[in-house]
Amino acid sequence: MGVIVAVDGPAGSGKSSVSRAAAVELGYAFLDTGAAYRALAWSVLEHGGDPEDAGDVERALDGFAFTSADDPAERWVRVGDVDVTEAIRTPRVTAAVSGIARVPAVRARLNDGFRARLAAAEPGVVAEGRDITTVVAPHADVRVLLTASPEVRASRRARELPEEDHGAVARSIAERDAKDSRVVDFLEAAEGVTTLDSTDLDFAGTVGALVALVRQAAGLE
Ligand code: DC
Repeated sequence: MGVIVAVDGPAGSGKSSVSRAAAVELGYAFLDTGAAYRALAWSVLEHGGDPEDAGDVERALDGFAFTSADDPAERWVRVGDVDVTEAIRTPRVTAAVSGIARVPAVRARLNDGFRARLAAAEPGVVAEGRDITTVVAPHADVRVLLTASPEVRASRRARELPEEDHGAVARSIAERDAKDSRVVDFLEAAEGVTTLDSTDLDFAGTVGALVALVRQAAGLE
């Protein structure tokens, strides 16, 4: 089995872009688990289902065929043969996804898929989400909680979404963290998980710190 790097963190912590860049630098595969939750939310909506209805969600889970690029330099996400890379980032999907992530059958089924991807990755994989360090891969070689202050997370997100005002972005991040942390606690590091606080680091500095943690833990330096 390759080196498994588990990264969790709240919305706007930069975990997705930081994990992807670290995977490129390490020559590892990359797995964005949130993309799978989003793709399932997209499927429920696509079938005219109600994301708050457990029956509709479980029906969408039947035969749900999620694939995404292993190569961190690529970016595609598919459901069956439909490319949903852009469609899973719309506000409609973002609003639906927390409800879906609460359904235990969803988490169990997606976790099986994630674990299979982790087990197959050579020479390693960086997997990011909310419960990778605690549930999906509690025995990962490297377990990191990537955090940043709420103010910094809101201002980073606002830069990505220039059309929205700062206050609205801060409120929506706080709401999503509150909803998501009812399902799994990703705001506090579990035992044995290293906290990487990026509040005072720029992007390159955060990637460098994550890569250094991996090299140290994997005995690469
Ligand atoms: O990281 P993201 O915003 O793309 O995640 C989308 C949603 O999926 C988010 O509301 C939380 C949920 N999620 C989860 O519950 N567990 C994971 N491992 C990853 C994401």
